[in-house]
Amino acid sequence: MVSYKELGLVNTKEMFQKAMEGKYAVPAYNFNNLEQMQAIVSACVETKSPVILQVSSGARKYANQTLLRYLAQGAVEYAKELGYEIPIVLHLDHGDTFELCKSCIDMGFSSVMIDGSHHSYEENVALTKKVVEYAHAHGVTVEGELGVLAGIEDDVVAEHHVYTQPEEVVDFVTRTGVDSLAISIGTSHGANKFKPEQCTRDENGVLIPPPLRFDILEEIEKQIPGFPIVLHGASSVPQEYVDTINKYGGALKDSIGIPESQLRKAAQSAVCKINIDSDGRLAMTASVRKTFHDQPAEFDPRKYLGPARDELKKMYMHKNKEVLGSAGKA
Ligand code: G3H
Ligand code: 13P
Ligand code: ZN
Repeated sequence: MVSYKELGLVNTKEMFQKAMEGKYAVPAYNFNNLEQMQAIVSACVETKSPVILQVSSGARKYANQTLLRYLAQGAVEYAKELGYEIPIVLHLDHGDTFELCKSCIDMGFSSVMIDGSHHSYEENVALTKKVVEYAHAHGVTVEGELGVLAGIEDDVVAEHHVYTQPEEVVDFVTRTGVDSLAISIGTSHGANKFKPEQCTRDENGVLIPPPLRFDILEEIEKQIPGFPIVLHGASSVPQEYVDTINKYGGALKDSIGIPESQLRKAAQSAVCKINIDSDGRLAMTASVRKTFHDQPAEFDPRKYLGPARDELKKMYMHKNKEVLGSAGKA
């Protein structure tokens, strides 16, 4: 049993309070390997941004939870070595059982998400409350979820959004004791968030997806003023990455994300945490595909993972500065 405090990590409490007051969102970037972690930490140190390092169930299966925890511990030391101390949270993304959350808390995670959104309302309340009780006894913060995002969430596929019902949030937050709440207002996971037929076109023929349901967000904010809200599925799916991937042999179809202007607007509201994973995958894949095309004789992984890491860092710096507004807040 190790406490996150011994590892130099922090929970989300103060981070979200500052984000709420400062009208920005803290980036929550998923990582599965060394290069992603290096890109996230160096980008956030360089932009002086707080950061949440997220580990999904898929990441745990791929990379091993213990190794990822040591990587996060290394991230704290790495940030210091880069010359600027930033607050770093190690967060479990989409935890689905009490046992999983407990295991992460016991090995040094400073924050966990218990995603009971696929259960009935009462089951979600009971499961979330149980996690909160254990987590709070260890100073760990908890994110709950109300509403279901359309698309794929781990192995669960939802055909349609189930938007968060604002009339449920007060009851959920008070009965469970969660520290933040993930909501469903029209985002979804992955690189195919909208079908082209759901979109309109601007004067240049660029597809414009339907706007997020800011009316629901505002209603939620009215119900629980000053309470930290989390936005999942917030990749913008940069078209230059999609184009590069497809130019160099990829086959991505109908890849449409959330426009940056919508995310900027969300970041200025009670949304204190914005989750981004797919954009990082696209940035790395675009870079690796281009390197393989341009340098077919290259077979040293550092020669293609290095440029991919650089591209990833550039993208995260852009997000912190231009989209989430977290740059300069650490
Ligand atoms: O919320 C989902 C994240 O993008 C993590 O995805 O389970 O494939 O690692 P993953
Ligand atoms: P994206 O697939 O839009 O990057 O969302 C990631 C996410 O919500 C992780 O929990
Ligand atoms: Zn998510």
